[in-house]
Amino acid sequence: MPHLVDILNGPNLNLLGQREPEIYGRDSLADIEAACRALAGELGLDIRFRQSNSEGTLVDWIQEARTSAAGIVINPAAYSHTSVALLDALSACECPVIEVHLSNIHRRESFRHHSYVSARADGVIVGCGAQGYDLALRRLARLIDG
Ligand code: DQA
Repeated sequence: MPHLVDILNGPNLNLLGQREPEIYGRDSLADIEAACRALAGELGLDIRFRQSNSEGTLVDWIQEARTSAAGIVINPAAYSHTSVALLDALSACECPVIEVHLSNIHRRESFRHHSYVSARADGVIVGCGAQGYDLALRRLARLIDG
């Protein structure tokens, strides 16, 4: 059976493609999901691709992943910079976690330079645009294979 990987997306990422395209690119979240599904097929992974604007929903999904997923890719968006709750939920998971940011958060405002989630992430990919999800899935597949 293919391993299940959760790809979780935080607030405002539903607006990708329309929202500040000079920062986040022209791909929509649906485009990114389609690319992830195609790659997951090649890597022998099953994916569950989700987005929420609500911190509590993301915590619930991480808790669901804790008992059902072999790995997590997460773009926590603005909650990266504020949420101890997401860090705690991820810390309760034993599976590998890769954090993704489309933009290079270190080249932007100083409040974006710190991510709570990075303290738990096994890898962090920033500034690679939509390709960051591709890189994250490849890394996760390697970590899952051991
Ligand atoms: C983001 C970076 C965050 O600082 C921002 O709040 C986002 C998106 C990114 O993918 O570059 O919403 O996570």
